[in-house]
Amino acid sequence: MATADPLSPGELALVSHAPSDLERGASPPSASPGAGMAATRVSSGPSVPDVHPASAHLAAANSGLHNPFVAPLDFTAVTASPNGALPGAHDLVAPSFSVPLLRDDVAAAPAASAPAAPATPAPAFDAVALDAAPVPALEVPASSGSFDAHALKREFPILSERVHGKPLVWLDNAATTQKPRAVIERVKSFYERENSNIHRAAHTLAARATDAYESARETVRRFVNASSVRDVVFVRGATEGINLVAQAWGRRNVKAGDEIVLTHLEHHANIVPWQMLCKETGALLRVAPVDDTGQVILDDYERLLSERTKLVALSQVSNALGTVTPAARMIEMAHRHGARVLLDGAQSVSHLRVDVQALGCDFFVFSGHKVFAPTGIGALVAPAALLDDTPPWQGGGNMIQDVTFERTVYQPAPARFEAGTGNIADAVGLGAALDWLSRVGLENVARHEHELLVYGTERLLTVPGLRIIGTAPEKAGVLSFVIDGHDTQTVAKALDQEGIAVRGGHHCAQPILRRFGLESSVRASLAPYNTLEDLDALVAALCRIVGAR
Ligand code: ALA
Repeated sequence: MATADPLSPGELALVSHAPSDLERGASPPSASPGAGMAATRVSSGPSVPDVHPASAHLAAANSGLHNPFVAPLDFTAVTASPNGALPGAHDLVAPSFSVPLLRDDVAAAPAASAPAAPATPAPAFDAVALDAAPVPALEVPASSGSFDAHALKREFPILSERVHGKPLVWLDNAATTQKPRAVIERVKSFYERENSNIHRAAHTLAARATDAYESARETVRRFVNASSVRDVVFVRGATEGINLVAQAWGRRNVKAGDEIVLTHLEHHANIVPWQMLCKETGALLRVAPVDDTGQVILDDYERLLSERTKLVALSQVSNALGTVTPAARMIEMAHRHGARVLLDGAQSVSHLRVDVQALGCDFFVFSGHKVFAPTGIGALVAPAALLDDTPPWQGGGNMIQDVTFERTVYQPAPARFEAGTGNIADAVGLGAALDWLSRVGLENVARHEHELLVYGTERLLTVPGLRIIGTAPEKAGVLSFVIDGHDTQTVAKALDQEGIAVRGGHHCAQPILRRFGLESSVRASLAPYNTLEDLDALVAALCRIVGAR
């Protein structure tokens, strides 16, 4: 690709090439050190009612703790039946509840069928230490209103499917979430009653479609607390949002010798576009390392920041490990060095309340399909002034104010980044999904999923030879693991035979798996419609697969 600026003369007239005060050195909008996600967490709240007996058991096991889901559980009383069989959740009676077997305790587990061969040597990495302290300690918000995962599940038609004759257990939510009836019906009703192109016609259906589309934009704005609907650009998903920023903002603002800082946790979508930009511009990619739990090492991250840093791009939640990064702190640190920050919210929006103003990020991206909306729709959220100061990346209808053969004048944001006819119906579906999730309540979701994460971590560690990858105290939504001697794809396929959908593979995040000496893992990922029974089914199936019935 040429490095020449692709702008037309019209664009040059509209947007100065000189770095504006928005670009360098200016205070970031609403950057508030120490705020952000931490501000959205409150310490404690009442336990979520749940019919599952293990729930009461977990609460009993934690009684006396300020927040039953925050403090580590007691890992001292290791129990297993004489034949090595492990108690099911329904066999557990407080206070002598099941706890994970430590590595030494499972040494006599059935022999592995096929050695799992890491392609690269593991770095300093202590599996026993990981097994001993894996219980997530993320602070979760107090619940509000009632929450019933079983009732929620019934709102998802696909979740009553049977697969290979077994009830479907959907634990591949980090890949994509299922869609509630509210979203399916909304998209259907759009096509039945409102379908038209938007913005361009005087007729009634155009007005209906435009209203529906723009109302979805307002819903996105509200959902992430952006300050204006002009901050919200509809894109195909997080990947397209990142590519847009790399190509439109990056080509203008990143030059040879500049640096772009990523973390070791990133999804390929938050690596490759920056590599492409670096190749084009002569900028350098720097990578902030993670510790053995999978959390970013903040001191090392800060050491990477300098006046050369033009952009930091990081995930709020890792898709492969579930680590919740200290995004607000990292953003504040980057801003102190005058860098812009792109926050990849693909894996966070369905689990945590996101407030882009409190976080202070410059660019935020997410995908609709990971938050109960259709595929092919998502959003890039950034202050309108920054977007207005960024050249378009695609030309076409809808994004122009005036066109002659000599020059084009572009629309201000967000239209300047929405060339052509967009994914109107699915944008409307995204609005319906976010409204649905808001009705369920992000605080309820975070709390329920944290309970699932704690329970799932405990139960998975009862599977002989199983090692959890990603044991940061701050985690959301992901249980990634390997089992000694068992190929991850074989495990994922065997689970599918039991009706259980997980992802086995590199999760489009090869660098972070290699950091742990692995080429792949099995990943069970959570959504609010998952239940403790889903995790029981997973663990029971894994025990059958490894031969520990
Ligand atoms: N990004 C998706 C995943 O993590 C596809 O599986």
